Amino acid sequence: MLFMKIIKATDYNDMSKKAAMIISAQVVLNPHSVLGLATGSTPLGTYAKLVEWCNKGDLDFSDVITFNLDEYRGLTSEHEQGYRYYMNNNLFSKINIKPENTHVPNGVANNIEEECSNYDKQISELGGISLQLLGIGHDGHIGFNEPAEYFEKSTHCVNLTEETIKANSRFFENADMVPKQAITMGMKSIMQAKKIVLVVNGKDKKEILNKALFGPITPKVPASILQLHPDLTVIACDAL
Ligand code: F6R
Repeated sequence: MLFMKIIKATDYNDMSKKAAMIISAQVVLNPHSVLGLATGSTPLGTYAKLVEWCNKGDLDFSDVITFNLDEYRGLTSEHEQGYRYYMNNNLFSKINIKPENTHVPNGVANNIEEECSNYDKQISELGGISLQLLGIGHDGHIGFNEPAEYFEKSTHCVNLTEETIKANSRFFENADMVPKQAITMGMKSIMQAKKIVLVVNGKDKKEILNKALFGPITPKVPASILQLHPDLTVIACDAL
């Protein structure tokens, strides 16, 4: 049975707290959980809550394993706009997770195809993702699965759309500095996650969220595939 739960958060803090509570429950019930994680501005508050609760002693990440959705092609782990850097800075260095249990695609791997297939292999060898945290782009992307003619199943290298480059230029000096490609987890690992939590913040996401949740299921709106997931929770602030 398909089951979509939509929660209207009162504000950003409420959205973050609710998402962090679901993640905490997952980790408490299964300390060996495999978490799929997102970057971007939306989950920052969620990560801040997880850090707070871990430091209070209420959460233990020592056996948790994580896989991030994506990484820019060409950015090293030390690059401040890279997603490995973001995760280390906003979450991993502040909780008791083992660094070797955290995975972010290697944006500077020499053999990208091998990097992508190894990423999928590692996820499937662990039995898949227990809980996947997602954000949504203005063009409906999840991870960096951009609007396309078909849903791409596996982890792959993708050309970023002009819209995504423009949206993400706020994190760089200018749009020219935004990498044009990224490595992203494909739809298979995302959709095979046992639970999905989608966090959405802001009026500017209202139109795309509506299309994704209630419009036709199409690779032109990548997030629309989530309608087919059996355990999807959407936590939205100002976007419904
Ligand atoms: C990043 C990711 C992206 C973002 C999306 C929204 O890891 O998965 O799909 O979730 O671009 O980004 P924000 O939250 O900055 O609006």
